[in-house]
Amino acid sequence: MDKPRLLIIDDDANLRKTLTDILRVRGFEASASGSGNEGLACLHENPADVVLIDLGLPDIPGIEVLKRVRAEFPAMEAIIITGKATLDSAIEAVNIGAYSYLIKPYEVEQLILNIRRAGEKQRAENALRKSEEQFRKIFAESPLGMAIVDGGNRFVKVNGMLCRMLGYSEEELVALSYPDIVYMEDSKPDISNIRSLFKRRHTYWKNEKRCVRKSGERFWVNVTTSVIVDAVDGNRYLLKMLEDISKRKKAEQAIRNAKEEWERTFDAIIDPVMILDTDYQVVKANKAMMAKLGMIRSGFDGLRCYQIFHGTDSPPPFCPHAQFLADGQPHSTEVDIPRLGGHFLVVISPLYGADGKLQGSIHFARDISERKSLERQLRHAQKMEAIGTLAGGIAHDFNNILTAIIGYANLLEMGMVADDPLAPHVEGILSGAERAANLTGSLLAFSRKQEMKLGPVDINKVVTGVEKMLRRLIREDIEFNISLDAEELTVMADAPQLEQVLMNFAANSRDAITDNGMISIGTRLVELSREFSDLHAFGEPGRYALLTFTDNGAGMDEMTRMRIFDPFFTTKETGKGTGLGLAVCYGIIKQHNGFVTCYSEPGTGTTFKIYLPIINETAEVGRAVNEVQMPRGTETLLLAEDDVMTRRLGRLLLENSGYHVIEAANGEEAVANFSELKDEISLVLLDVIMPRMNGREAYRRIDLLKPGIKAIFISGYTADIFKKEELFEEGFNFLSKPILRKDLLVTVRNLLDS
Ligand SMILES: Nc1ncnc2c1ncn2[C@@H]1O[C@H](COP(=O)(O)OP(=O)(O)OP(=O)(O)O)[C@@H](O)[C@H]1O
Ligand SMILES: [Mg+2]
Repeated sequence: MDKPRLLIIDDDANLRKTLTDILRVRGFEASASGSGNEGLACLHENPADVVLIDLGLPDIPGIEVLKRVRAEFPAMEAIIITGKATLDSAIEAVNIGAYSYLIKPYEVEQLILNIRRAGEKQRAENALRKSEEQFRKIFAESPLGMAIVDGGNRFVKVNGMLCRMLGYSEEELVALSYPDIVYMEDSKPDISNIRSLFKRRHTYWKNEKRCVRKSGERFWVNVTTSVIVDAVDGNRYLLKMLEDISKRKKAEQAIRNAKEEWERTFDAIIDPVMILDTDYQVVKANKAMMAKLGMIRSGFDGLRCYQIFHGTDSPPPFCPHAQFLADGQPHSTEVDIPRLGGHFLVVISPLYGADGKLQGSIHFARDISERKSLERQLRHAQKMEAIGTLAGGIAHDFNNILTAIIGYANLLEMGMVADDPLAPHVEGILSGAERAANLTGSLLAFSRKQEMKLGPVDINKVVTGVEKMLRRLIREDIEFNISLDAEELTVMADAPQLEQVLMNFAANSRDAITDNGMISIGTRLVELSREFSDLHAFGEPGRYALLTFTDNGAGMDEMTRMRIFDPFFTTKETGKGTGLGLAVCYGIIKQHNGFVTCYSEPGTGTTFKIYLPIINETAEVGRAVNEVQMPRGTETLLLAEDDVMTRRLGRLLLENSGYHVIEAANGEEAVANFSELKDEISLVLLDVIMPRMNGREAYRRIDLLKPGIKAIFISGYTADIFKKEELFEEGFNFLSKPILRKDLLVTVRNLLDS
């Protein structure tokens, strides 16, 4: 440490000299002045740590010198030297800030002790003053908003930055309390944390919250709170340091917004989309994809795409992702994905990271089931048209040839006597020609070249008219039911031809029923919607007579069902069937501007439906009236149906009437989707026959999840068949395929309201 600096102010020259010498020897840097003015001038030039002042000075009183020293050099300590006579003045001197006084004559050691103590005090005070000054400077100039807050949350001291941050002047702010400037919603955790601070469990507490400016505007700050203790009175205060983090918060919000917007956009894509990494793992899938899969977002569990979509252990050969990984190029493929319930066009695009490295690919899957189905229908219609033209052409020409054969054979017959030995040959020619004529007749019927005698006909009468013949045609052990619409169903028709259609159906059903069986015929009036005709690519919307022909015979597989209307297609052994029965039916129905559908399941049975346009009704009027009367709703319904067309139609019809529809492509999916959304779903529509899990079983499980859930079963057959087989109890609601708008909406509404 430097030598303590002393100045002695005394008018006694000897004393000055002696004292200076002694103090120098004792290690002080001592100098001396003989008068008050000189002494003060000396101090201005060279400040001392301790000054010794004699009270009796010649120019100005020592007390005055002391006062000026205190005022001009607050860090300097003073010791008063006095004679006995001026003891009172000495005490006064101590009162106005002298460190101590000594009465002459005094011991040198006593003086030195006093000087040392005064020096120590001076040093301690200097250090304190310095640190206070530093704190004051930090506080005042801090780039953080700072405040000292007392136990009552009042501001004791605030800095300039805090005032600027909040938009108050210092006076305004100090008049407020801390709770006035913070948004209280964000300050709830403060209380317990500040309590911990006081208990010294931690030294500071930091949190992000919103503050309120004078203008009322809120902004984000990061507040650090610590406890400070007053060195003098021991009171505890909180020191708050506030950092304005609104820019960072804005940036964070912008990032969050961008992320949310991205996700919203991703989820708004109506096609199923997913992102795959280079290891075939699903990184992300959009809402449409999750809905199709009947999964929740976190459900991939590291599964690879081929495991999810194709249930295989490696990518299938057509996998566009594999092709893409091989050549880095975009690829696309059309593929049937039963897991998604349809036929899809999958297009994949490369996905690169910010570092330019390949990350994986984005898969867009567009459901093209409808297009494919329409293509199939169109191809079928074109095929039938082409075969019809060909068959019709041959039959027509062949008929001319037959006319010649029969004519000449007749001439031969006429020229023969009764017992001509050649007569049986001519008879043989004639009966063969007759069979051939029947065949060409069938072909002409199929190719719609047959002559028609159209007139207004009540379909119900056609059925009752042919009933006896039908009963004769089928075996006695087959139960035969007829249920007709109470109203007349008038269509433009050639009655005998319609009878022929029924006979052909009946013959087929009879052949398909091996044991005891049942055949039922029903008629009713239906209203076909635009959606229905668009989706099935037949007919105009409007009123139709629907004739349903059902058996519970052997049924047929899909491959067979696709070909039944082809002429000469038969599964019967040679000689048993020509394969023309249904071809003729098809031709006749087409020629009546009607259309026919067939539903069949092996082992269960077959249902044919014939739609014939009702006459005397303008479709427009009929539709408009019906449009108004159709019941609507806003409930959420689950529609489980494996046939894409039926499912789509159902969805369209329900959505157009205000309902929210959740789809499922099979029984398992129906149960999974239901369990996820069971609180929202008010009613389930279940196809009876579905892959993976049939409708009955799916219903049983759904009913366990939400007992008493309302359900409608959809079937290609009439309800009687199921009841007969005791699969279903009475009281279940059935809708039969194809789904008709009015039936669907009325049944759904009635059940929801029941
Ligand atoms: N109700 C039915 N149940 C099961 N299969 C049927 C039914 N109706 C038709 N089929 C199938 O369709 C095929 C074609 O029927 P279609 O009536 O055209 O010819 P066919 O009965 O075989 O011969 P044909 O009618 O000339 O005696 C049948 O062979 C049979 O496989
Ligand atoms: Mg037949």
